[in-house]
Amino acid sequence: MDRLFAKLGLLVSFLAVAHLSCLYGLPTGTGGYLYPQFYDHSCPRAQEIVRSVVERAVAKDPRMAASLLRLQFHDCFVQGCDASILLDSTGTMASEKRSNPNRDSVRGFEVIDEIKSALEEACPHTVSCADIIVLAARDSTVLTGGPSWEVPLGRRDSREASLSGSNNNIPAPNITFQNILSKFQQQGLDIVDLVALSGSHTIGNARCATFRQRLYNQNGDGKPDFTLDKHYASELRRRCPPSGGDQNLFYLDYVSPVHFDNSYFKNLLAYKGLLNSDEVLVTQSQASLELVNKYAYNGELFFEQFAKSMVKLANLSPLTGPRGEVRKHCRKINKAYY
Ligand code: HEM
Ligand SMILES: *[C@@H]1O[C@H](CO)[C@@H](O)[C@H](O)[C@H]1NC(C)=O
Repeated sequence: MDRLFAKLGLLVSFLAVAHLSCLYGLPTGTGGYLYPQFYDHSCPRAQEIVRSVVERAVAKDPRMAASLLRLQFHDCFVQGCDASILLDSTGTMASEKRSNPNRDSVRGFEVIDEIKSALEEACPHTVSCADIIVLAARDSTVLTGGPSWEVPLGRRDSREASLSGSNNNIPAPNITFQNILSKFQQQGLDIVDLVALSGSHTIGNARCATFRQRLYNQNGDGKPDFTLDKHYASELRRRCPPSGGDQNLFYLDYVSPVHFDNSYFKNLLAYKGLLNSDEVLVTQSQASLELVNKYAYNGELFFEQFAKSMVKLANLSPLTGPRGEVRKHCRKINKAYY
């Protein structure tokens, strides 16, 4: 009985804190202003509309699920989750679409446009492009067999983009484990988030240009990456020659390329991770190796952590309240404030 009361007491004080934080707001980095019911009154069908467009898009092109999932990462690591990645270049603003990690690589913009126009029809000027990105990422995960989670909502859209932020904040695939981890830590994410979120590479493709270095000249000494399985490497070399074929596509998870599962982690343990940034999770850090082992062994544990880390990623520095705006078109800012 005592323990029950203690638990109730905890619950009450938790609710009090939660209530206070609504009144006074938490630091923006924690996403404290966001909550899943944000559109329940203003646009009750919002989530259903997003899901139906994503469903159609993925049915037409299974890779689209991966592309939409990746959009959340590339948006949230630059100025927070504010749909800055969706803005096209203008005379005074360089689009993040031109950055090294995004150029010829990030896709899904047409699907986001389609979702936005469906939402504008149902509830004009209500649902932000930033919220569309994180809902589409969740739906894409579910559609490919991954976990589901509740998405806190209420983000607003930026009026600017950051090309340099995109170049600096999003890790390149050929940097060290420590440098990748630093880029996650700069965003308030930790090693558990890094390993779990890297599990996104259980679906989707990468271009030859992003891992060629591993096949031929890993350390500038003309030798391949010795942490890459020999047979797997010779297979990769066949369609990713020393020069040319930059755009040739390879599955990030060759075992189950369109299925969201934990085979990505099993591949890493077999030295069959595609990107250098994948393989370093088992070759350059004991702590990371232990997490990979855990997720390879227990898919449920991976799913649980993935959902938590996706919410954490989606809550990075949202624009809320009077900050930012709800764009009418996701590719451009509104003409004037109102
Ligand atoms: C840890 C550091 C990471 C690095 C260095 C990295 C790098 C890359 C690279 C180089 C590609 C292939 C791009 C291309 O060839 O055009 C890729 C694809 C992808 N990435 Fe990552 N990534 C990282 C983390 C993440 C995270 C955190 C997510 C999601 C939460 C993610 C989701 C994806 C997905 C789903 C694809 C496939 C996209 C498609 O097929 O369109 N990645 N990543
Ligand atoms: C990573 O790849 C880029 C582009 O190919 C190259 O310029 C850079 O030197 C590479 N960095 C490392 C650490 O190998």
